[in-house]
Amino acid sequence: MELREELPSDREPVRDVHLRAFGDHGLVVADLVDTLRDTVTPADGLSLVAEYDGKIAGHVMFTRSLLDAPRQLVEVQVLSPLAVLPGHQGRGIGSALVRRGLEILAERPVPLVFLEGDPGYYSRFGFAPGGGQGFRKPSLRIPDAAFQVIGLPGYEPWMTGTLVYAEPFWRHDAVGLRDPGA
Ligand SMILES: CC(C)(COP(=O)(O)OP(=O)(O)OC[C@H]1O[C@@H](n2cnc3c(N)ncnc32)[C@H](O)[C@@H]1OP(=O)(O)O)[C@@H](O)C(=O)NCCC(=O)NCCS
Repeated sequence: MELREELPSDREPVRDVHLRAFGDHGLVVADLVDTLRDTVTPADGLSLVAEYDGKIAGHVMFTRSLLDAPRQLVEVQVLSPLAVLPGHQGRGIGSALVRRGLEILAERPVPLVFLEGDPGYYSRFGFAPGGGQGFRKPSLRIPDAAFQVIGLPGYEPWMTGTLVYAEPFWRHDAVGLRDPGA
């Protein structure tokens, strides 16, 4: 398996990974990725793919959002989305993508990485629920346990407050869980 930054020619296979991994939600996620990609630059954000037998088997994206801290707005990163092709799950590909991404971001002035996800999976990388650490989730529809954060070397204790998702997450209605019966 090879981990590397996404190339322009990876666009369709990356879409395919999300369409297949996220099932009914796949189209929203694939479209979100296409929008978020425009915000990724060599110095800001990160889009990593995992190649397995010469094919794209996994993808993770980190993009900039804001933390509304008491002192000032702080640029943070959001890990979203992460997916591995169904036939390739359980082989460490997702873990390798997350770990490599965090290593790269730790070399930059990134203080915090937030995500929405299952703590049973993400706690292994050091993510912990943000609510108990002075952070507020960007939507009441995100379960408390799912709103997670990890601090990187750029973190300073005054950096608390509300996570404000970048606009693409709202445009694609990709925040939290909708309740059609509400
Ligand atoms: C979640 C996902 C990215 C994990 O990738 P992966 O390559 O299968 O994961 P790894 O091989 O690195 O890790 C496998 C471990 O994760 C666990 N795991 C996988 N998905 C999990 C989930 N949703 N919740 C909790 N644990 C999960 C497996 O049980 C396994 O545990 P073990 O190491 O104790 O045996 C992949 O299953 C996937 O694409 N799922 C569909 C899309 C998705 O839900 N993405 C995450 C949204 S934030």
